[in-house]
Amino acid sequence: MSLAKPTPSSADIGVTGMGVMGSNLARNFARHGHKVAIHNRSVERTQAAIAKHGDEADFIPCETLDDFVAALQPPRCAIIMVKAGAATDAVINDLADRMDPGDIIVDCGNSLFTDTRRREAAMRERGLHFVGCGVSGGEEGALWGPAIMPGGSPESYKRLGPMLESISAHVGEEPCCTHVGADGAGHFVKMVHNGIEYADMQVIGEAYDLLRRALGLSPAQIADIFAEWNEGDLDSYLMEISVEVLRQVDTETGKPLVDLIVDAAGQKGTGAWTTQTALDLGVPVTGIGEATFARGLSSSPAQRHAARGFAAEAAEWDIEDADAFIEDVRQALYASKVVAYSQGFNEIQAAAEEYGWDIKLGDMARIWRGGCIIRAAFLAEITKAFEKTPDLPLLIGDDYFYAKIVEALPHWRRLVSLAALHGAPVPVFASSLSYYDGLRADRLPACLIQGQRDFFGAHTYRRVDKEGAFHTLWAEEGREEVEA
Ligand code: 6PG
Repeated sequence: MSLAKPTPSSADIGVTGMGVMGSNLARNFARHGHKVAIHNRSVERTQAAIAKHGDEADFIPCETLDDFVAALQPPRCAIIMVKAGAATDAVINDLADRMDPGDIIVDCGNSLFTDTRRREAAMRERGLHFVGCGVSGGEEGALWGPAIMPGGSPESYKRLGPMLESISAHVGEEPCCTHVGADGAGHFVKMVHNGIEYADMQVIGEAYDLLRRALGLSPAQIADIFAEWNEGDLDSYLMEISVEVLRQVDTETGKPLVDLIVDAAGQKGTGAWTTQTALDLGVPVTGIGEATFARGLSSSPAQRHAARGFAAEAAEWDIEDADAFIEDVRQALYASKVVAYSQGFNEIQAAAEEYGWDIKLGDMARIWRGGCIIRAAFLAEITKAFEKTPDLPLLIGDDYFYAKIVEALPHWRRLVSLAALHGAPVPVFASSLSYYDGLRADRLPACLIQGQRDFFGAHTYRRVDKEGAFHTLWAEEGREEVEA
Protein backbone atom coordinates (compact mmCIF):
# COMPACT_ATOMS: atom_id res chain seq x y z
CA MET A 1 0.00 0.00 0.00
CA SER A 2 1.43 3.37 -0.93
CA LEU A 3 1.32 6.43 1.29
CA ALA A 4 -0.84 9.46 0.59
CA LYS A 5 0.91 12.60 -0.67
CA PRO A 6 1.73 14.86 2.28
CA THR A 7 0.58 18.46 2.42
CA PRO A 8 3.45 20.66 1.18
CA SER A 9 5.26 22.80 3.76
CA SER A 10 3.38 21.17 6.62
CA ALA A 11 6.28 19.87 8.72
CA ASP A 12 8.58 21.80 11.08
CA ILE A 13 11.30 19.23 10.68
CA GLY A 14 11.92 15.92 8.95
CA VAL A 15 13.81 12.75 9.80
CA THR A 16 15.03 10.35 7.13
CA GLY A 17 16.28 6.96 8.24
CA MET A 18 13.70 5.05 10.26
CA GLY A 19 16.01 2.76 12.21
CA VAL A 20 15.41 2.79 15.97
CA MET A 21 17.49 5.94 16.49
CA GLY A 22 15.73 7.82 13.68
CA SER A 23 12.22 6.82 14.68
CA ASN A 24 12.95 7.59 18.34
CA LEU A 25 14.24 11.06 17.43
CA ALA A 26 11.11 11.65 15.34
CA ARG A 27 8.89 10.55 18.22
CA ASN A 28 10.80 12.82 20.59
CA PHE A 29 10.27 15.83 18.27
CA ALA A 30 6.59 14.97 17.96
CA ARG A 31 6.17 14.66 21.73
CA HIS A 32 7.52 18.19 22.02
CA GLY A 33 4.89 19.57 19.68
CA HIS A 34 6.88 19.68 16.43
CA LYS A 35 5.26 18.47 13.23
CA VAL A 36 7.60 15.77 11.92
CA ALA A 37 7.88 14.39 8.40
CA ILE A 38 9.37 10.92 8.33
CA HIS A 39 10.98 9.01 5.50
CA ASN A 40 12.99 5.90 4.82
CA ARG A 41 14.65 4.59 1.66
CA SER A 42 12.39 1.53 1.81
CA VAL A 43 8.84 2.65 2.48
CA GLU A 44 8.07 -0.47 4.56
CA ARG A 45 10.07 0.95 7.44
CA THR A 46 8.13 4.21 7.33
CA GLN A 47 4.91 2.23 7.31
CA ALA A 48 6.15 0.09 10.20
CA ALA A 49 7.00 3.21 12.20
CA ILE A 50 3.53 4.61 11.61
CA ALA A 51 1.89 1.28 12.47
CA LYS A 52 3.80 1.16 15.73
CA HIS A 53 3.86 4.79 16.82
CA GLY A 54 1.33 6.57 14.59
CA ASP A 55 -1.11 7.05 17.45
CA GLU A 56 1.46 9.08 19.44
CA ALA A 57 1.27 12.11 17.13
CA ASP A 58 0.40 13.37 13.64
CA PHE A 59 3.51 12.23 11.85
CA ILE A 60 3.76 13.10 8.18
CA PRO A 61 4.87 9.86 6.51
CA CYS A 62 6.51 10.34 3.12
CA GLU A 63 7.01 7.68 0.51
CA THR A 64 9.56 9.44 -1.69
CA LEU A 65 12.35 11.87 -1.03
CA ASP A 66 10.52 14.38 -3.26
CA ASP A 67 7.47 14.15 -0.99
CA PHE A 68 9.69 14.41 2.09
CA VAL A 69 11.45 17.57 0.95
CA ALA A 70 8.17 19.11 -0.25
CA ALA A 71 6.58 18.43 3.14
CA LEU A 72 9.17 20.54 4.96
CA GLN A 73 8.42 24.12 5.74
CA PRO A 74 11.14 26.47 4.39
CA PRO A 75 13.83 27.05 5.37
CA ARG A 76 13.74 23.27 5.46
CA CYS A 77 15.32 21.22 8.22
CA ALA A 78 16.03 17.61 7.33
CA ILE A 79 17.72 15.25 9.75
CA ILE A 80 19.62 12.27 8.42
CA MET A 81 19.89 9.29 10.74
CA VAL A 82 21.57 6.62 8.66
CA LYS A 83 24.72 4.53 9.00
CA ALA A 84 27.80 6.77 8.91
CA GLY A 85 29.86 6.59 5.73
CA ALA A 86 28.89 6.20 2.09
CA ALA A 87 25.15 5.97 2.88
CA THR A 88 25.32 9.41 4.47
CA ASP A 89 26.96 10.98 1.41
CA ALA A 90 24.32 9.47 -0.87
CA VAL A 91 21.42 10.81 1.21
CA ILE A 92 23.02 14.25 1.57
CA ASN A 93 23.37 14.58 -2.18
CA ASP A 94 19.86 13.32 -2.87
CA LEU A 95 18.47 15.85 -0.39
CA ALA A 96 20.65 18.70 -1.64
CA ASP A 97 19.42 18.13 -5.21
CA ARG A 98 15.89 18.83 -4.02
CA MET A 99 16.57 21.70 -1.66
CA ASP A 100 16.79 25.49 -1.94
CA PRO A 101 19.42 27.91 -0.66
CA GLY A 102 19.11 28.45 3.09
CA ASP A 103 17.79 24.95 3.76
CA ILE A 104 19.48 22.86 6.44
CA ILE A 105 20.69 19.27 6.29
CA VAL A 106 21.54 17.74 9.65
CA ASP A 107 23.61 14.57 10.05
CA CYS A 108 22.89 13.05 13.46
CA GLY A 109 25.00 9.93 12.93
CA ASN A 110 28.45 9.29 14.37
CA SER A 111 30.29 10.74 11.37
CA LEU A 112 33.99 11.46 11.31
CA PHE A 113 34.45 15.22 11.74
CA THR A 114 36.71 15.49 8.68
CA ASP A 115 33.87 14.06 6.57
CA THR A 116 31.58 16.62 8.15
CA ARG A 117 33.97 19.44 7.28
CA ARG A 118 34.13 18.22 3.69
CA ARG A 119 30.35 17.91 3.46
CA GLU A 120 29.77 21.28 5.08
CA ALA A 121 32.07 22.99 2.59
CA ALA A 122 30.37 21.24 -0.35
CA MET A 123 26.88 22.20 0.87
CA ARG A 124 27.97 25.77 1.61
CA GLU A 125 29.05 26.04 -2.05
CA ARG A 126 25.48 25.15 -2.96
CA GLY A 127 24.01 27.72 -0.56
CA LEU A 128 22.85 25.07 1.92
CA HIS A 129 23.62 24.70 5.60
CA PHE A 130 25.10 21.42 6.70
CA VAL A 131 25.06 20.61 10.39
CA GLY A 132 27.10 17.71 11.75
CA CYS A 133 25.31 16.95 14.98
CA GLY A 134 26.55 14.62 17.72
CA VAL A 135 23.77 12.82 19.58
CA SER A 136 24.51 10.76 22.65
CA GLY A 137 22.37 8.61 24.86
CA GLY A 138 21.62 5.57 22.76
CA GLU A 139 18.12 4.57 21.75
CA GLU A 140 16.49 5.55 25.03
CA GLY A 141 18.24 8.90 24.96
CA ALA A 142 17.05 9.61 21.43
CA LEU A 143 13.49 9.02 22.60
CA TRP A 144 13.49 10.64 26.02
CA GLY A 145 16.24 13.25 25.87
CA PRO A 146 19.77 12.89 24.49
CA ALA A 147 22.73 15.22 24.84
CA ILE A 148 23.01 17.02 21.51
CA MET A 149 26.17 18.55 20.04
CA PRO A 150 25.37 20.45 16.83
CA GLY A 151 28.06 22.10 14.73
CA GLY A 152 27.50 24.12 11.56
CA SER A 153 26.75 27.80 11.09
CA PRO A 154 25.35 30.02 13.87
CA GLU A 155 22.61 30.97 11.39
CA SER A 156 21.44 27.36 11.06
CA TYR A 157 21.39 27.06 14.85
CA LYS A 158 18.88 29.93 15.05
CA ARG A 159 16.35 27.81 13.17
CA LEU A 160 17.39 24.39 14.41
CA GLY A 161 18.62 25.09 17.93
CA PRO A 162 15.30 25.71 19.68
CA MET A 163 13.89 22.46 18.30
CA LEU A 164 16.97 20.48 19.28
CA GLU A 165 17.04 22.07 22.71
CA SER A 166 13.40 21.16 23.26
CA ILE A 167 14.03 17.44 22.70
CA SER A 168 17.35 17.27 24.54
CA ALA A 169 17.84 16.06 28.09
CA HIS A 170 17.54 18.82 30.67
CA VAL A 171 19.38 19.32 33.93
CA GLY A 172 17.05 21.52 35.93
CA GLU A 173 15.93 24.08 33.36
CA GLU A 174 19.06 23.82 31.26
CA PRO A 175 19.01 21.93 27.97
CA CYS A 176 21.85 19.50 27.25
CA CYS A 177 22.30 21.05 23.83
CA THR A 178 24.22 24.06 22.60
CA HIS A 179 25.82 25.28 19.40
CA VAL A 180 29.29 23.75 19.64
CA GLY A 181 31.05 25.62 16.84
CA ALA A 182 31.37 25.85 13.07
CA ASP A 183 31.41 23.01 10.50
CA GLY A 184 32.70 19.75 12.08
CA ALA A 185 32.96 21.00 15.68
CA GLY A 186 29.83 19.13 16.83
CA HIS A 187 30.98 15.79 15.49
CA PHE A 188 34.46 16.43 16.85
CA VAL A 189 33.13 16.97 20.36
CA LYS A 190 30.91 13.87 20.04
CA MET A 191 33.96 11.89 18.94
CA VAL A 192 35.91 12.98 22.02
CA HIS A 193 32.85 12.22 24.15
CA ASN A 194 33.02 8.67 22.84
CA GLY A 195 36.76 8.48 23.45
CA ILE A 196 36.20 9.52 27.05
CA GLU A 197 33.42 6.93 27.19
CA TYR A 198 35.99 4.26 26.26
CA ALA A 199 38.36 5.42 29.03
CA ASP A 200 35.56 5.66 31.58
CA MET A 201 34.36 2.13 30.78
CA GLN A 202 37.91 0.77 30.94
CA VAL A 203 38.70 2.28 34.36
CA ILE A 204 35.50 0.79 35.75
CA GLY A 205 36.61 -2.51 34.19
CA GLU A 206 40.05 -2.27 35.77
CA ALA A 207 38.49 -1.58 39.18
CA TYR A 208 36.20 -4.60 38.80
CA ASP A 209 39.08 -6.82 37.74
CA LEU A 210 41.31 -5.82 40.66
CA LEU A 211 38.57 -6.29 43.24
CA ARG A 212 37.93 -9.70 41.83
CA ARG A 213 41.55 -10.79 41.56
CA ALA A 214 42.80 -9.36 44.84
CA LEU A 215 39.86 -9.94 47.14
CA GLY A 216 38.10 -12.76 45.35
CA LEU A 217 34.81 -10.86 45.43
CA SER A 218 31.83 -12.05 43.43
CA PRO A 219 30.24 -9.86 40.74
CA ALA A 220 27.31 -9.22 43.10
CA GLN A 221 29.65 -8.09 45.89
CA ILE A 222 31.47 -5.79 43.49
CA ALA A 223 28.10 -4.46 42.37
CA ASP A 224 27.39 -3.52 46.00
CA ILE A 225 30.71 -1.66 46.23
CA PHE A 226 30.05 0.14 42.95
CA ALA A 227 26.55 1.04 44.10
CA GLU A 228 28.06 2.68 47.17
CA TRP A 229 30.64 4.56 45.07
CA ASN A 230 27.82 5.70 42.85
CA GLU A 231 26.46 7.66 45.79
CA GLY A 232 29.57 9.84 45.92
CA ASP A 233 32.17 11.43 43.60
CA LEU A 234 31.92 8.56 41.15
CA ASP A 235 28.19 9.00 40.59
CA SER A 236 27.68 8.36 36.87
CA TYR A 237 25.50 6.59 34.36
CA LEU A 238 28.29 4.17 33.45
CA MET A 239 28.79 3.24 37.11
CA GLU A 240 25.04 2.79 37.51
CA ILE A 241 24.75 0.42 34.54
CA SER A 242 27.88 -1.47 35.66
CA VAL A 243 26.03 -2.26 38.91
CA GLU A 244 23.12 -3.61 36.86
CA VAL A 245 25.38 -5.67 34.59
CA LEU A 246 27.27 -7.16 37.54
CA ARG A 247 24.04 -8.04 39.36
CA GLN A 248 22.52 -9.78 36.36
CA VAL A 249 22.14 -13.51 36.83
CA ASP A 250 21.87 -15.78 33.79
CA THR A 251 18.39 -17.28 33.81
CA GLU A 252 19.58 -20.51 32.20
CA THR A 253 22.54 -21.38 34.40
CA GLY A 254 22.01 -19.25 37.50
CA LYS A 255 25.57 -17.93 37.12
CA PRO A 256 26.50 -14.25 37.06
CA LEU A 257 25.92 -13.22 33.46
CA VAL A 258 29.21 -11.32 33.32
CA ASP A 259 31.04 -14.66 33.74
CA LEU A 260 29.33 -16.01 30.66
CA ILE A 261 30.08 -13.05 28.40
CA VAL A 262 33.11 -13.53 26.13
CA ASP A 263 35.84 -11.15 27.29
CA ALA A 264 36.51 -9.61 23.88
CA ALA A 265 35.38 -5.98 23.66
CA GLY A 266 33.96 -4.67 20.40
CA GLN A 267 34.26 -1.19 18.97
CA LYS A 268 32.72 0.74 16.15
CA GLY A 269 35.67 3.05 15.75
CA THR A 270 35.07 6.33 17.58
CA GLY A 271 37.70 5.54 20.24
CA ALA A 272 40.21 4.85 17.50
CA TRP A 273 39.25 8.10 15.74
CA THR A 274 39.76 10.05 18.96
CA THR A 275 43.18 8.48 19.43
CA GLN A 276 44.25 8.89 15.80
CA THR A 277 43.15 12.51 15.77
CA ALA A 278 44.95 13.18 19.04
CA LEU A 279 48.12 11.74 17.53
CA ASP A 280 47.72 14.08 14.55
CA LEU A 281 47.21 17.03 16.87
CA GLY A 282 50.09 15.94 19.12
CA VAL A 283 47.87 15.76 22.20
CA PRO A 284 48.56 12.92 24.66
CA VAL A 285 45.26 11.19 25.33
CA THR A 286 46.84 8.24 27.06
CA GLY A 287 43.68 7.18 28.90
CA ILE A 288 41.57 7.05 25.74
CA GLY A 289 44.39 5.48 23.75
CA GLU A 290 45.09 2.77 26.33
CA ALA A 291 41.38 2.05 26.67
CA THR A 292 41.12 1.63 22.90
CA PHE A 293 44.19 -0.60 22.80
CA ALA A 294 42.85 -2.63 25.73
CA ARG A 295 39.76 -3.40 23.66
CA GLY A 296 42.08 -4.38 20.81
CA LEU A 297 44.12 -6.67 23.08
CA SER A 298 41.00 -8.32 24.42
CA SER A 299 39.90 -9.00 20.84
CA SER A 300 43.21 -10.52 19.69
CA PRO A 301 42.49 -14.24 20.01
CA ALA A 302 45.63 -15.46 18.23
CA GLN A 303 47.95 -13.39 20.42
CA ARG A 304 46.08 -14.21 23.62
CA HIS A 305 46.17 -17.87 22.72
CA ALA A 306 49.90 -17.71 21.99
CA ALA A 307 50.54 -16.03 25.34
CA ARG A 308 48.50 -18.48 27.39
CA GLY A 309 50.76 -19.98 30.01
CA PHE A 310 53.36 -17.19 29.80
CA ALA A 311 55.18 -16.82 33.10
CA ALA A 312 53.76 -14.30 35.57
CA GLU A 313 56.60 -14.24 38.08
CA ALA A 314 54.10 -12.39 40.21
CA ALA A 315 53.27 -12.39 43.90
CA GLU A 316 50.12 -14.09 45.17
CA TRP A 317 47.44 -11.69 46.31
CA ASP A 318 47.28 -11.50 50.09
CA ILE A 319 45.44 -8.34 51.08
CA GLU A 320 45.22 -7.87 54.83
CA ASP A 321 43.05 -4.79 54.93
CA ALA A 322 40.31 -5.26 52.37
CA ASP A 323 38.66 -1.91 53.14
CA ALA A 324 41.90 -0.04 52.59
CA PHE A 325 42.42 -1.85 49.30
CA ILE A 326 38.90 -1.02 48.14
CA GLU A 327 39.60 2.63 48.94
CA ASP A 328 42.85 2.45 46.92
CA VAL A 329 40.87 1.14 43.95
CA ARG A 330 38.23 3.85 44.31
CA GLN A 331 40.81 6.61 44.44
CA ALA A 332 42.78 5.23 41.49
CA LEU A 333 39.57 4.98 39.49
CA TYR A 334 38.60 8.55 40.29
CA ALA A 335 42.04 10.01 39.54
CA SER A 336 42.42 8.07 36.27
CA LYS A 337 38.98 9.18 35.21
CA VAL A 338 39.77 12.83 35.85
CA VAL A 339 42.98 12.45 33.84
CA ALA A 340 41.05 10.97 30.90
CA TYR A 341 38.59 13.89 30.92
CA SER A 342 41.42 16.38 31.29
CA GLN A 343 43.15 14.89 28.26
CA GLY A 344 39.91 14.81 26.25
CA PHE A 345 39.34 18.51 26.91
CA ASN A 346 42.92 19.20 25.82
CA GLU A 347 42.15 17.46 22.54
CA ILE A 348 39.09 19.67 22.04
CA GLN A 349 41.18 22.76 22.86
CA ALA A 350 43.85 21.76 20.34
CA ALA A 351 41.30 21.09 17.61
CA ALA A 352 39.52 24.38 18.30
CA GLU A 353 42.81 26.14 17.72
CA GLU A 354 43.65 24.09 14.63
CA TYR A 355 40.26 24.51 12.97
CA GLY A 356 39.33 27.96 14.27
CA TRP A 357 36.37 26.77 16.35
CA ASP A 358 35.11 28.91 19.19
CA ILE A 359 34.28 26.06 21.56
CA LYS A 360 33.35 26.91 25.13
CA LEU A 361 34.69 24.01 27.17
CA GLY A 362 32.46 24.84 30.12
CA ASP A 363 29.43 24.52 27.84
CA MET A 364 30.60 21.12 26.67
CA ALA A 365 30.86 19.89 30.25
CA ARG A 366 27.47 21.46 30.96
CA ILE A 367 25.68 19.67 28.10
CA TRP A 368 27.30 16.37 29.07
CA ARG A 369 25.71 16.51 32.52
CA GLY A 370 22.54 14.86 31.25
CA GLY A 371 21.36 12.54 28.50
CA CYS A 372 24.70 11.26 27.28
CA ILE A 373 26.55 8.05 28.06
CA ILE A 374 29.28 9.80 30.08
CA ARG A 375 26.85 11.81 32.21
CA ALA A 376 28.28 12.04 35.68
CA ALA A 377 27.92 14.14 38.78
CA PHE A 378 31.46 15.48 38.56
CA LEU A 379 30.70 17.17 35.23
CA ALA A 380 29.11 19.92 37.33
CA GLU A 381 32.57 20.52 38.84
CA ILE A 382 34.18 20.45 35.39
CA THR A 383 31.65 23.02 34.21
CA LYS A 384 32.56 25.25 37.15
CA ALA A 385 36.28 24.83 36.49
CA PHE A 386 35.97 26.03 32.88
CA GLU A 387 33.52 28.77 33.78
CA LYS A 388 36.05 30.10 36.26
CA THR A 389 38.97 29.80 33.81
CA PRO A 390 37.72 29.34 30.22
CA ASP A 391 41.20 28.65 28.82
CA LEU A 392 42.29 26.37 31.65
CA PRO A 393 45.31 24.52 30.21
CA LEU A 394 44.83 21.51 32.42
CA LEU A 395 41.66 20.32 34.10
CA ILE A 396 43.69 18.43 36.70
CA GLY A 397 45.28 21.78 37.60
CA ASP A 398 41.95 23.32 38.62
CA ASP A 399 41.87 23.82 42.41
CA TYR A 400 39.02 21.37 42.99
CA PHE A 401 40.45 18.56 40.88
CA TYR A 402 44.04 19.16 41.90
CA ALA A 403 43.08 18.71 45.56
CA LYS A 404 41.30 15.47 44.64
CA ILE A 405 44.30 14.18 42.72
CA VAL A 406 46.65 14.98 45.60
CA GLU A 407 44.32 13.10 47.95
CA ALA A 408 44.26 10.15 45.54
CA LEU A 409 48.00 9.99 44.91
CA PRO A 410 49.17 7.66 47.71
CA HIS A 411 46.29 5.27 46.97
CA TRP A 412 46.87 5.45 43.23
CA ARG A 413 50.62 4.82 43.50
CA ARG A 414 50.11 1.92 45.89
CA LEU A 415 47.49 0.36 43.68
CA VAL A 416 49.46 0.63 40.45
CA SER A 417 52.51 -0.85 42.22
CA LEU A 418 50.44 -3.68 43.68
CA ALA A 419 48.91 -4.42 40.29
CA ALA A 420 52.36 -4.62 38.69
CA LEU A 421 53.75 -6.81 41.49
CA HIS A 422 50.80 -9.17 41.26
CA GLY A 423 50.62 -9.31 37.49
CA ALA A 424 47.28 -7.56 36.98
CA PRO A 425 46.88 -5.44 33.84
CA VAL A 426 45.85 -1.85 34.59
CA PRO A 427 46.66 0.03 31.38
CA VAL A 428 44.62 3.15 32.13
CA PHE A 429 45.32 3.36 35.87
CA ALA A 430 49.05 3.00 35.22
CA SER A 431 49.37 5.20 32.14
CA SER A 432 47.31 7.96 33.77
CA LEU A 433 49.67 7.99 36.72
CA SER A 434 52.67 8.12 34.38
CA TYR A 435 51.04 10.98 32.51
CA TYR A 436 50.64 12.86 35.77
CA ASP A 437 54.25 12.20 36.75
CA GLY A 438 55.42 13.13 33.27
CA LEU A 439 53.62 16.46 33.38
CA ARG A 440 54.92 17.43 36.80
CA ALA A 441 58.53 16.39 36.12
CA ASP A 442 61.17 19.13 36.17
CA ARG A 443 63.18 17.32 33.54
CA LEU A 444 62.11 14.64 31.09
CA PRO A 445 64.32 12.24 29.15
CA ALA A 446 63.26 14.13 26.04
CA CYS A 447 66.68 15.83 26.33
CA LEU A 448 68.34 12.51 25.54
CA ILE A 449 65.91 11.88 22.68
CA GLN A 450 66.84 15.25 21.20
CA GLY A 451 70.51 14.28 21.51
CA GLN A 452 69.83 10.97 19.76
CA ARG A 453 67.89 12.70 16.98
CA ASP A 454 70.68 15.15 16.47
CA PHE A 455 73.25 12.33 16.47
CA PHE A 456 71.71 10.24 13.73
CA GLY A 457 69.82 12.82 11.76
CA ALA A 458 71.23 16.27 12.51
CA HIS A 459 67.75 17.28 13.64
CA THR A 460 69.20 19.95 15.99
CA TYR A 461 68.25 20.73 19.58
CA ARG A 462 67.68 23.79 21.71
CA ARG A 463 69.76 24.55 24.82
CA VAL A 464 68.55 25.50 28.28
CA ASP A 465 71.16 28.25 28.60
CA LYS A 466 70.97 30.13 25.30
CA GLU A 467 68.64 30.88 22.40
CA GLY A 468 68.85 29.19 19.02
CA ALA A 469 69.08 25.79 17.39
CA PHE A 470 72.24 23.75 17.73
CA HIS A 471 73.86 20.77 16.10
CA THR A 472 76.78 18.87 17.48
CA LEU A 473 79.36 17.43 15.08
CA TRP A 474 79.34 14.14 16.96
CA ALA A 475 82.12 12.60 14.90
CA GLU A 476 84.34 15.67 15.26
CA GLU A 477 85.05 15.68 18.98
CA GLY A 478 81.65 17.08 19.78
CA ARG A 479 82.14 20.51 18.28
CA GLU A 480 78.83 22.37 18.36
CA GLU A 481 77.42 24.46 15.53
CA VAL A 482 74.75 27.10 15.70
CA GLU A 483 72.11 26.47 13.07
CA ALA A 484 70.75 29.33 11.01
C1 6PG B 1 26.43 7.42 22.65
C2 6PG B 1 27.28 6.22 22.33
C3 6PG B 1 26.95 5.73 20.95
C4 6PG B 1 27.35 4.29 20.69
C5 6PG B 1 28.80 4.11 20.56
C6 6PG B 1 29.29 2.76 21.00
O1 6PG B 1 27.05 8.43 22.95
O2 6PG B 1 25.22 7.32 22.62
O3 6PG B 1 28.62 6.53 22.38
O4 6PG B 1 27.47 6.66 20.07
O5 6PG B 1 26.79 3.44 21.59
O6 6PG B 1 29.08 4.24 19.19
O7 6PG B 1 30.58 2.67 20.55
P1 6PG B 1 31.40 1.35 20.43
O8 6PG B 1 30.57 0.36 19.66
O9 6PG B 1 32.61 1.78 19.68
O10 6PG B 1 31.66 0.90 21.83
